[in-house]
Amino acid sequence: MSSARPFYVTTPIYYVNDEPHVGHAYTTILADVFARHHRIHGGAVHFLTGTDEHGQKVQEAAQKRGLTPLQHCDELVERFRALWVRLQVSNDDFIRTTEPRHEKVVAEFLIELQARGEIYRERYEGLYCTPDERFWTAKDVVDGNCPLCGRPVVTLTEENYFFRMSRHQEWLVDYIKTHPEFIQPKTRRNEVLGFLEKPLGDLCISRPAARLHWGIPIPFDSEYVTYVWVDALVNYVSAVRETEFWPASLHLIGKDILTTHCVYWPTLLHALGLPMPETILAHGWWLQGESKMSKSVGNVVKPLALVDLYGVDAFRYYLMRDMVVGQDAEFSEKHLVQRLNSDLANDLGNCLNRVERMIGTYAEGRAPEVRGEDDADRELAQTGKRTVVAAQEAMLARRPHEAIEATLQLVRATNRYLELKAPWKAFKTDGPTGVATALWTSAEALRLAAVLLAPVIPAKSGEMLSRLGVADSPEVWFPRPIVDDEGGALPPANETAQGALAATWGALPPGTEIRPGAALFPRVETTTES
Ligand code: MSP
Repeated sequence: MSSARPFYVTTPIYYVNDEPHVGHAYTTILADVFARHHRIHGGAVHFLTGTDEHGQKVQEAAQKRGLTPLQHCDELVERFRALWVRLQVSNDDFIRTTEPRHEKVVAEFLIELQARGEIYRERYEGLYCTPDERFWTAKDVVDGNCPLCGRPVVTLTEENYFFRMSRHQEWLVDYIKTHPEFIQPKTRRNEVLGFLEKPLGDLCISRPAARLHWGIPIPFDSEYVTYVWVDALVNYVSAVRETEFWPASLHLIGKDILTTHCVYWPTLLHALGLPMPETILAHGWWLQGESKMSKSVGNVVKPLALVDLYGVDAFRYYLMRDMVVGQDAEFSEKHLVQRLNSDLANDLGNCLNRVERMIGTYAEGRAPEVRGEDDADRELAQTGKRTVVAAQEAMLARRPHEAIEATLQLVRATNRYLELKAPWKAFKTDGPTGVATALWTSAEALRLAAVLLAPVIPAKSGEMLSRLGVADSPEVWFPRPIVDDEGGALPPANETAQGALAATWGALPPGTEIRPGAALFPRVETTTES
């Protein structure tokens, strides 16, 4: 086993009570795209997602249904698990905050913080938002309402445990300033630094068990449970406690949970003497009209309905292509269909069909050997090589929409190239030798496009590669880690196939049998203009 730490990527752990919607699907697919990208380029990956299961809302919902909170969670967690399978999410682990491995680490951390003098107990009066389960200062509250959800806050007096977060403020500001990669994008980094211009308070990390019993007990005081955000953040470490994966390479979050991840989490880690995650990347919101898609607004779009209609790859493609990581985007089914019809059906799918058909008719169904090159051939090869670099750089810069666009440009260039070379004419005058280079070159461009798009459209990319004869074994292309019974990684099923999966121009072996298939992405006819 190699000692190099893998690329460790996480999603937020989702509230188990909420029905998964497009917003949740987006973060998880984004993490999946980065995980697959790293795996394809030969890196080891550890990809974690999971569910956040404690707190008032879960306690109340379970009570209403006459279930224990755990029974309620056991049932609801399956919606997330099933959705991730359906969306081809290749997570290596799934953590639930009700698992003993997690509860154990939360308790350990609290004991350690206590031992380090980072925790004190105090009587506290504060303005409390019951639905969000958090205290606010008078300055935060807007006209008596929670600044987060807009619902009324109540005055609450209780004794609680506090984490000396304020102690770490100076350190945190300095850390953020000296580590430009720590919080991304820049706008969010500035937002956090702006927030830290005001004095940072201490963090209330407990809730009286009398009010809220559904939580992880404070290990040194059974009258209290752990504040749900402290509980939840620890998942990123508790899931990998027995490994060397911590610190994480990348925490992906939505901008709604910036403060918890960029202020609470780093100060907690610092207080514990643990290393910082490399990067916390906050993306924007999928909007419906002007407002964030969310359960409380009641405007959520359900991913499964869209996947049933348009297929998982088109759904993933749309989410990755139409949102610039960091910015908001408006969700529109119409735009999804447009992307599907133009990029996937017209550009990509048609190109594949054309090339397959021509190789069948003019080259006995096998990728020919190159016979001489002209300017157009060399230009497409150049475009192919440039695309690999551009797509790779865009993925590493966490700009998947650019990687996709660069690859689609290659596909469009291939379609234009075929028009120019017109193998259907060249064959008539020059026979098989006259079309050999054009057929190999366009098949190679498609193979490369399939490799570059694989993180985004894994199933269709696998199909393309198999039709282009380079990936016999679907396992090669579905990097849900292929493990043997002992949990060890299995070698690739087919060495040749691995070579031809290379993200470099020129890897398609001449003589490869091309196996034509049906339309890769059938067009969706739209009846309405809505
Ligand atoms: N349980 C906390 C996170 C704890 S992490 C230690 C939580 N859960 S959540 O179920 O509300 O999911 C929040 C995440 O879902 C957001 O941070 C974001 O990643 C994603 N999204 C939820 N709605 C979204 C949109 N409308 N648009 C994009 N992503 C959004 O907060």
